[in-house]
Amino acid sequence: MTAKRSRAEIRIPFNQPFLTGRELEYISEAHRNHHLSGDGPFTKRCHAWLERTVGCPKALLTHSCTAALEMAAILVGIRPGDEVIMPSFTFVSTANAFVLRGGVPVFVDVREDTLNIDESKIEAAITPKTRAIVVVHYAGVACEMDDIQAVASRHGLVVIEDAAQAVLASYKGKPLGGLGALGALSFHETKNILCGEGGALLVNDPALADRAEVIREKGTDRSRFTRGEVDKYTWVDIGSSFLPGEVIAAFLWAQMEMAESITRRRKQIWARYQEAFTGLEAAGLARRPVVPTHALSNAHNYYLLLRDLETRDRLIRSLREDGIHAVFHYVPLHDSPAGRKFGRIGGPMEITRSVAERLVRLPLWLGLEAHQDEVIESCERALAP
Ligand SMILES: Cc1ncc(COP(=O)(O)O)c(C=O)c1O
Repeated sequence: MTAKRSRAEIRIPFNQPFLTGRELEYISEAHRNHHLSGDGPFTKRCHAWLERTVGCPKALLTHSCTAALEMAAILVGIRPGDEVIMPSFTFVSTANAFVLRGGVPVFVDVREDTLNIDESKIEAAITPKTRAIVVVHYAGVACEMDDIQAVASRHGLVVIEDAAQAVLASYKGKPLGGLGALGALSFHETKNILCGEGGALLVNDPALADRAEVIREKGTDRSRFTRGEVDKYTWVDIGSSFLPGEVIAAFLWAQMEMAESITRRRKQIWARYQEAFTGLEAAGLARRPVVPTHALSNAHNYYLLLRDLETRDRLIRSLREDGIHAVFHYVPLHDSPAGRKFGRIGGPMEITRSVAERLVRLPLWLGLEAHQDEVIESCERALAP
């Protein structure tokens, strides 16, 4: 009852999924097509859009980014005891996907500016058991991919991009998700382009493409059968059911059609926050996000870094009293019960610990424009000395 009342008091939610208006039309079309399982006409359109936009040889829709990461762990052949380097400042699935195969996450600290994995600390975490580096482009801002690729090739490691938050963002002009051997995108309802629950695996290394299709189709060569390349399909490898049905793909297609304009509007909202909080930063009351000049962000989220945990909690409470829902994340994985059980740290985690306590994410969704001044003013009031 209490929880319900406090939810009802929220006037400006943290997230509100944006609908383009064509989702139901395309779902009806999928219904009329009588093709409701996966890999029908809408899935094909989504695949073509991803391949064109990211410039990758093969894109495969999945039912989540989590699923795409699980496919990646199978595809790169993670075996029990293999170590996988990744940040601790990330969502659970980045690590869990590899733990499911017996892999050991080795957590590396993040950079103070972008909150992405600190490329200069990766090498020290490499051991003879290291197999892969998983990078996370936090908030749709690119990791330092040139340096990371150089470390990976020096040590014969595979690079996987957790690009859950990074659709239509880029690094030195190259789309994120298209730089590692594999990239994983999310279309969860909190993401820029959404279908409720959804994702995609971007297969950038052509040598992995055929097996990726098999793993996604329950370990069968059904995709080849559908294309008429074999006259029956059979069980050929391990796999699972990683593909979404056409209803989800139809919804997603409506979003992909408008992906550029959605991103443009998000960037305007992001820029308005960034401009508005110049004074807070100058006064030492908050630090704004940093986007390196060689990274083009997709404005996935907007956050502030505050002085300490107490200030962060005070701001969230104060915004809530004004009817505004702001949130924090992540509980660093190396400090979580499962992270301690299945993984280990690969060096000091000072920045991860510090930013996880001080970060607050502000509402950012299409339609917020009408309320954004209220959010800004509420932050300024709460943080005023
Ligand atoms: C960095 C990161 N990785 C993975 C995921 C998982 O995405 P999904 O919910 O599509 O499985 C998320 C979702 O928030 C994420 O932010």
